[in-house]
Amino acid sequence: KTVRIIGVPLDYGADRRGVDMGPSAIRYAGLHEKLRQVGHKVIDIGNLPVPVPESRTKNETHLKYADEIVKVSRVLARAVEKSLDEDNYPLILGGDHSIAIGTIAGLLRKFSRLGVLWFDAHGDYNTDQTSPSGNVHGMPVATAVGLGHPALKIPFHGHFVDPHKIVYVGVRTLDADEAEALRHSGATVFSMHEIDRYGMRDVMAKAIDIVTDQTDGVHLSFDIDAVDPLYAPGSGTPYSGGLTEREAHLALELLAESDIVSSMEMVEVNPILDEHNRTGELAANLIASALGHRII
Ligand code: ARG
Ligand code: MN
Ligand code: MN
Ligand code: MN
Repeated sequence: KTVRIIGVPLDYGADRRGVDMGPSAIRYAGLHEKLRQVGHKVIDIGNLPVPVPESRTKNETHLKYADEIVKVSRVLARAVEKSLDEDNYPLILGGDHSIAIGTIAGLLRKFSRLGVLWFDAHGDYNTDQTSPSGNVHGMPVATAVGLGHPALKIPFHGHFVDPHKIVYVGVRTLDADEAEALRHSGATVFSMHEIDRYGMRDVMAKAIDIVTDQTDGVHLSFDIDAVDPLYAPGSGTPYSGGLTEREAHLALELLAESDIVSSMEMVEVNPILDEHNRTGELAANLIASALGHRII
């Protein structure tokens, strides 16, 4: 594959500063070399321009930084669309999870029936109506299916993801109204309970069936907080009881083997909260697994 790396140093969607340094941390961990070792060609377009929060004066509590997020999302959507036009595999490095708005909006311009694999401790299925925090990184999935505030939906041009084609892996905390909405959404949620109960191997087999059924592309959105904070301490909204490092690798190795994924994003890596770039290294290694790395 020709992997095209797009850095999005955006932290407007999250409460904690520092996640804007995620792309640097993941590159610093040797991402390019790891991907070349697997045999991929790597193109890195660098980071998209993102203005710093210090340069603005507005201070909303509801839909925080929506204007900035939408602006960056529109640029990201175009960058993703362009890499698909050139037959590249888009690899987006966040940044917080609000960037998925731009990623998915771009993917939908080429894949009209997109399947989505969402690895996360959280549901990210809040709207401005249900969010307790007002942080947009808790809203990208709801936005991608066409729910929530019209402003956030601008990059989608009226095309959304069918919720039945969304599969979550690793979920272990939801806000009350978010859980209620998700229950009726049609999305499949493999929470930690299902992973404990059936094992990652069976969960991934089911997940692959769902996202490949009548779809024309599959996006893998990996929030590093899906992995237990024991292994991924560098993220802003950690939650215990998560995937082990090995479970995460297994999931992504199984995906590489199935060769169904057409784009990937790695988000919420926060070097400020990390221990010597441990989480950045984990993220780089997980990306390599998803793109075919094997020990032997
Ligand atoms: N549910 C919480 C909220 O809406 C946390 C979301 C965390 N999202 C994330 N991408 N880490 O604020
Ligand atoms: Mn999360
Ligand atoms: Mn259109
Ligand atoms: Mn997330």
